[in-house]
Amino acid sequence: MKVLFIGDIVGKRGREALIAHLPMLKEKYAPDFIIANGENSAHGKGITKKIYNQYLSMGIDMITMGNHTFSNDNLMTFIDQADRLVCPANRDTDKPGTPVRYLDYKGKKVGVYNLVGEIFMDSVEESPLPAMERLLKYYPADIHIVDFHAEATGEKAIFLHYFYDKVEMIVGTHTHIQTADECIFKGCAFISDVGMCGGYDSIIGRDADEVLERVTTGRHTHFVPADTPAVFSAVFVTFNDETNRAESIERIQIRPEY
Ligand SMILES: [Fe+2]
Ligand SMILES: [Fe+2]
Repeated sequence: MKVLFIGDIVGKRGREALIAHLPMLKEKYAPDFIIANGENSAHGKGITKKIYNQYLSMGIDMITMGNHTFSNDNLMTFIDQADRLVCPANRDTDKPGTPVRYLDYKGKKVGVYNLVGEIFMDSVEESPLPAMERLLKYYPADIHIVDFHAEATGEKAIFLHYFYDKVEMIVGTHTHIQTADECIFKGCAFISDVGMCGGYDSIIGRDADEVLERVTTGRHTHFVPADTPAVFSAVFVTFNDETNRAESIERIQIRPEY
C-alpha cells in the first residue's frame, strides 16, 4: 500500500500549490490513497463545502482536520454528509464530526485517525495518549494512519514511542514547518511535522506584515493567509502488504521559485 499525506493546506495559495503539483505527484508515486490536512483551507481557517468537494474531485481520499475544524461556519451545513472528513477525537466533541474514518485496501481496513496534542493547544478535552488508546479500542483497523495535530516536537516523539507497535503511521501536522526527522521506527512511519501547503514568504502561512502589526501594536487583526507563491509539503509512505507495517517514508517539499 502506498499513501501520500499532504500537510495543512493554507488558503488559496495552498490550494493553488495542490493544483500545480498533485497531478505530477500522482503520476510519479501512484499512491493508493491521498490524505490531506484541510483545517486551514478556507482563507486560513476551516473548510467549506466547495473546497471539500474540490479536494475530492482532485483525488484526495480523506481530509483530516485540527484546532481550526469549526472555524468556518459553512462546515456545519454539510458535515453530516462529509464522509471523507476526520475531526480531532479530543477537541470540539460537543460538535458533530467523526474521529476515525476507514478506507478499504484489498479487503483490509485502513483507519485514519485524527487527534490534537495538549501542549500549547487550547480547548483540549482529553490527553492524546488515553484518547488514542480509546480510539484503538473502539475503532480497530488492520492498518492505522494517525494525523497527530500538535505543536510540540517532544509531544509528538512521546506519541511515537507510546504507539509505534500499535499503529503503522504517525504524522504530525499543525506547526506548518516541515521537520527533517522522518523515519521508519520499528515498522511505524513517522515525521514530527509534514509542513504546509501555503505562502512560502510568510509567518507559518500568514501574511507577515499583518502578524508583525499585531504583535508590535497589539491591534486586533484577522491573520489573513499570505498571498505569496506557495510551498508544497507532503510525505510518501509505503507499507508491506504481508505484515501491514510501514517500509519507507519520503519527505516531499517543493518550494516556489523566486
Ligand atoms: Fe494548520
Ligand atoms: Fe492547527
